Amino acid sequence: MHTSAPPANPLRFKSPARLVAEAGHDRQGHGLKRTMGLFQLICFGVGAIVGTGIFVGLSDSVAQAGPAVVVSFILAALTCVLTAFSFAELGGAIPVAGSSYSFAYAGLGEGAAFLVGWCLLLEYGVSVAAVAVGWSQYVNELLHSLTGHQLPHVLSAGPADGGAVNLPAVLVIALACVLLVRGVRESARATAAMALLKLVILLLFCAIGFSAFRAGNLLPFAPDGLGGIGAGTTAAFFSYIGFDAITTAGEEARDPRRSIPIAILVCIGLVTVLYCAVAVAATGAVGGDRVGGRPAALSYVVNEVTGSAVGGGIIAFGAVVAIASVVLAVLYGQSRILMSMSRDGLVPGVFARVSPRTSTPVAGTLIIGVVFAVPAAFCSLDAVVGLCTIGTLATMAAVNAALMVLRRREPDLPRTFRVPLYPVLPLLGIGCCVYLMYETGWAAWAQFAAFLAAGCALYATYGRRRSRLS
Ligand code: ALA
Repeated sequence: MHTSAPPANPLRFKSPARLVAEAGHDRQGHGLKRTMGLFQLICFGVGAIVGTGIFVGLSDSVAQAGPAVVVSFILAALTCVLTAFSFAELGGAIPVAGSSYSFAYAGLGEGAAFLVGWCLLLEYGVSVAAVAVGWSQYVNELLHSLTGHQLPHVLSAGPADGGAVNLPAVLVIALACVLLVRGVRESARATAAMALLKLVILLLFCAIGFSAFRAGNLLPFAPDGLGGIGAGTTAAFFSYIGFDAITTAGEEARDPRRSIPIAILVCIGLVTVLYCAVAVAATGAVGGDRVGGRPAALSYVVNEVTGSAVGGGIIAFGAVVAIASVVLAVLYGQSRILMSMSRDGLVPGVFARVSPRTSTPVAGTLIIGVVFAVPAAFCSLDAVVGLCTIGTLATMAAVNAALMVLRRREPDLPRTFRVPLYPVLPLLGIGCCVYLMYETGWAAWAQFAAFLAAGCALYATYGRRRSRLS
């Protein structure tokens, strides 16, 4: 029977040295394998980042910002870059699977770490649901271009979108779980192939879009002015979520202190250039008013430009693969974060159990899949994106804060990368995150407040009592 120890002090922190020493294996001594090199980490990053946000969410950002969506993408990238520096420094200095949760444990103390881990359920778990809902749109688009038919609406959309259950969204989560349990995420070839395919598809889109580019289509450039650009930035931010997942591979990377910082910064740079190119190609080809709010918008643009459904079908195929790979990478990240929290006693032990046969956390992965398949089946994309965005921004602000505390408390921590212009950049990072959080609107704030209150209650009644930190 569990004998409860006195509750831990929520302000107690775990030293980076201890975090690193405890990483790499579960309590039975079964561990993750160090197999990922720099190229594979970059592919993993692209795999986690590029998906529903650009293939589906672009049309929402355009609906807000018009052709000035390119400015929104740059502003969203700026927020991410500021925080990406902090992730690069901390990911290199503390290469463990817990990502922001572990950084918060080292910098801000156990209570904050629990809440960061709790918010990561929004960034990873809820975003899996959002991404899976986006996948469903392109599955239908692909089916339509292959057969002329689509799945019945009642089976491919949740009640909020006028359907009953979103079966494709559930299917992609189930598939990803099966592959993860079998250790496919560890397959270097599968990861690289999916990342390269989505880059090629988006480059193809840009080539087609630019072939029909007319500067006049970019006018009016910002129909709703600065307010529209601000709202578009919050919407565009979703497409960058996932870059920090690279740090969850800290225990599986071969030379994490060097490769993790490089992989994060390369991924953000690559993806920003690509997103801006896609945004200009789409709006420049057909005009912002025809992209804004359109389902499967990239396929639509290609069909309009080429005058046939074949190009749109190819884009839809690319989107189906691209978005599925985000589900895979993000579910993987979620399982690794819960594994870290579980090792610390803050969530049940089942999440830390690594199968000796597959070297993967089988039970934890399946539980996560089942839990997040529920919002995927029944919620609309809009309903989950706001919550996911605000939760991610909160964790990013916390990572910047943890970095600043650790610079003071652990000045001699071996750092392979250091945030330039310290402390200006992390402070700016916090400011940008808070501004974008403000922009998500009251509905997301209300949901977020309720979610945080539940997290505090869970920490007080479970995590704080079971913490293994002594
Ligand atoms: N950035 C991820 C996507 O756009 C969440 O699908």
